[in-house]
Amino acid sequence: MEDADVIFDKYAQDPDVTKYLTWRPNRSIGETREFLEASLVAWREGRSYHWTIVRKEDQELMGMINASIENHKWQIGYVLARAYWGKGYMTEALRKLVAWALEQPEICRIWSVCDIENRASARVMEKAGMRREGTLPRWSVHPNLSPEPRDSYCYSVPR
Ligand SMILES: CC(C)(COP(=O)(O)OP(=O)(O)OC[C@H]1O[C@@H](n2cnc3c(N)ncnc32)[C@H](O)[C@@H]1OP(=O)(O)O)[C@@H](O)C(=O)NCCC(=O)NCCS
Repeated sequence: MEDADVIFDKYAQDPDVTKYLTWRPNRSIGETREFLEASLVAWREGRSYHWTIVRKEDQELMGMINASIENHKWQIGYVLARAYWGKGYMTEALRKLVAWALEQPEICRIWSVCDIENRASARVMEKAGMRREGTLPRWSVHPNLSPEPRDSYCYSVPR
């Protein structure tokens, strides 16, 4: 919870960051705190895990990566503040998480989706060794782009 201010300031309120996401930019720090509270409850219940991504050299909080668990399937999501885009950080984080997950006997499928126009996200998944399985028509509403469900690419690594 002590990261709420930084998360709000650095990316949760940024319309460029949330453009392809399923949520609208946070309008207040209260919304960021609510999200963090829900994430902590989900962690305790083993439904999903959110990790902040912190740069080793200066302990800067840059973003977050998370896994939602459904039995043997782990769905990954991630977000990075704009100031840190294009430096390979998310590829590094996702590669680590995928490598770790593939070593866990109870995890058989790591997967994720992204809006078909979210080229950076698709590229990150490819660089992390995930394979595009196909297009999911009308999969997800990305409210910052349109109220209509949009097509997504589905990526995975099965084990
Ligand atoms: C998607 C996101 C996490 C990428 O993080 P990042 O640390 O900048 O990613 P990396 O630097 O590891 O790799 C980005 C890759 O995408 C490429 N890329 C970036 N923008 C691109 C674009 N518009 N078109 C094509 N490729 C693009 C980069 O060139 C790089 O590939 P390369 O190494 O082959 O050159 C970051 O942009 C982000 O947080 N976006 C907003 C939130 C989001 O969309 N999350 C994913 C939801 S599915």
